[in-house]
Amino acid sequence: MGLLRGPLFWLLLLLAAACSGILFALYSSAVERSLEPHSGVRDTTSSRAFLQPKSSNSRTRKSHRCQHPLHLAIQRHPHFRSLFDLSKPVLLWWGLFTPELWDHLSQHKAPYGWQGLSHHAINSTLSLLNGSDSAELFAASREPPPNCIRCAVVGNGGILNGSRQGANIDAHNYVFRLNGAVIKGFERDVGTKTSFYGFTVNTMKNSLISYQNAGFTSVPQGQDLHYIFIPSNLRDYVMLRSAILGVPIPEGPDKGDRPHTYFGPEASASKFKLLHPDFIGYLTDRFLKSKLINTNFGDLYMPSTGALMLLTALHACDQVSAYGFITSNYRKFSDHYFDRTKKPLIFYANHDLILEATLWRDLHKAGILQLYQR
Ligand SMILES: *[C@@H]1O[C@H](CO)[C@@H](O)[C@H](O)[C@H]1NC(C)=O
Ligand SMILES: *[C@@H]1O[C@H](CO)[C@@H](O)[C@H](O)[C@H]1NC(C)=O
Ligand SMILES: *[C@@H]1O[C@H](CO)[C@@H](O)[C@H](O)[C@H]1NC(C)=O
Repeated sequence: MGLLRGPLFWLLLLLAAACSGILFALYSSAVERSLEPHSGVRDTTSSRAFLQPKSSNSRTRKSHRCQHPLHLAIQRHPHFRSLFDLSKPVLLWWGLFTPELWDHLSQHKAPYGWQGLSHHAINSTLSLLNGSDSAELFAASREPPPNCIRCAVVGNGGILNGSRQGANIDAHNYVFRLNGAVIKGFERDVGTKTSFYGFTVNTMKNSLISYQNAGFTSVPQGQDLHYIFIPSNLRDYVMLRSAILGVPIPEGPDKGDRPHTYFGPEASASKFKLLHPDFIGYLTDRFLKSKLINTNFGDLYMPSTGALMLLTALHACDQVSAYGFITSNYRKFSDHYFDRTKKPLIFYANHDLILEATLWRDLHKAGILQLYQR
């Protein structure tokens, strides 16, 4: 499991032998993909009886109105019960930034921590995330939250081409998308609603370059849309700070970029969420501890953007459907749903998509998520 094959892998292996510096650059520029199909959403329940606002973190719930809340499926499962900690904070914000957290995260490299990053860089970004909106995934919504939060996470896998799942996807309370999430022209297959767009600055910019011809000419924008930053690098903290302040990027590889060209004119802290580095570490350790970690690729490895978004949804929603994620029959489908011609799925050396496929299959079997398959 988890062995990467194919020419790209071997190419990377060679490069690694030759020069780990080049590899690092490759890591920084590898665009992720995530394939995965999803399953037809069981139309549950979900009365929208509005009562208690839900916290995205504390899932000790109160989801009486959910017919099949995922936290019950977790409790019933002998293995997953010991992996999930639904009380783990998903997002990082000013209120969690203590000296203890600084000491702890300074010992881990990004995306799991802040090793090598300056206190000033972190402090100046986090101090902007100081409202309650920054602590909660769903807090920004004006409407009373639904009593059963149903989420769809849409990966970019070729299985969605011709799937006609658009209406099913849009029927969820919240829709998560990521990286090269092309919508125009694919509405019938992938829907139009976007509540959250997840990315690292690296994967976002690479998607804008690599998938431009497929129609990914801008990042999804909208009034009800929120951005989830995955802090894989200093540049993510710098972009986030500049986006909230509404100023050009002052330093680093993105120097001179204007954040509003990506995220639209509305620059306010409530628009942006930051995934907690410790949450990323917990996810990796418990759910996606790849054998790659013990190879030369150890420092490059991290879960794919799609995996991070899907696991985030599993820790914040009552029901989760995954569309466009990798399935066991991935060879039948093109790499992405928006590919013009069929291309095989690319296995980048910094991810372990086979391990991810196994996890989605097992979570689906356990009734914890619904994986779209065909
Ligand atoms: C962190 O940021 C806050 C708010 O900008 C500021 O008041 C404080 O002095 C900063 N702390 C340090 C140690 O720089
Ligand atoms: C919190 O944010 C507001 C602006 O939204 C700012 O004026 C205030 O100083 C911030 N507080 C801290 C502790 O950083
Ligand atoms: C997308 O699906 C259509 C049929 O629904 C097929 O003709 C086309 O080749 C598919 N595209 C790719 C890239 O596989």
